[in-house]
Amino acid sequence: MKLVFLGPPGAGKGTQAEETCKSFSLTHISTGDILRKAVADGSDVGLEAKKYMEEGDLVPDSIIVGLAADRMSEDDCAEGFILDGFPRTIVQAQALDEELQNSGSRLDLVIYFETSEDVIIRRLTGRRICRKCGANYHIETMKPRVEGVCDRCGGEIYQRSDDKLGTIKKRVKVYHEETDSLIEYYRERDILAEVDGDEAVSELAVVLEGMLSVR
Ligand code: AP5
Repeated sequence: MKLVFLGPPGAGKGTQAEETCKSFSLTHISTGDILRKAVADGSDVGLEAKKYMEEGDLVPDSIIVGLAADRMSEDDCAEGFILDGFPRTIVQAQALDEELQNSGSRLDLVIYFETSEDVIIRRLTGRRICRKCGANYHIETMKPRVEGVCDRCGGEIYQRSDDKLGTIKKRVKVYHEETDSLIEYYRERDILAEVDGDEAVSELAVVLEGMLSVR
């Protein structure tokens, strides 16, 4: 199965992608994670991407399309994947269509997480991440057992630099300007399904499980 999780920042795409990948033996491809690793490694791509990410802007299509294509061509993606945070522009969506077509494949489903703005702000201002393994926490709803320490690997828990209120608002604005149009793009192709991103993690997981197990 080849899926896209589409939605605004903080919609829960990454959280649900983790769970869905475990349930359906898929590979989770997060372009945000790929870029954060490039930034942490200090690679040329990372240095270029950093300035856009810190401002809450999109990294140029010319950079991201190649990164996503490279990741999708790796062995662990052969049985299927969930793209989380890609595509985010029409240019990226067209490049993805072309990439899949060239390998005799296509997207099975795009799941759009419709999420309200107050929920987004609450989730993202409170989000914390493990620096080592990327596990996700929230200061109110998903606390680690020991403050500042990852339950899974013992790594340090930190706040993403783009999870400050001003940058979150910018990311939401950029989402509406650049990414909203993909909802119609995929609806026209008859591969769009919608879920309520405001729902609790466990409830949403049940909805997704039901939706995907009949496919
Ligand atoms: P990226 O890392 O993709 O960030 P994003 O799209 O802004 O998405 P988030 O990770 O913020 O949200 P999410 O929907 O995954 O929510 P999550 O599950 O983490 O991108 C970062 C930057 O990289 C971009 O701004 C851009 O610069 C660049 N970039 C990346 N891809 C790009 C592309 N294709 N093109 C160009 N540039 C690109 O959940 C959020 C929080 O809420 C967590 O704390 C979680 O625990 C909690 N939570 C999740 N679900 C629920 C729920 N149902 N109920 C309660 N709490 C919940």
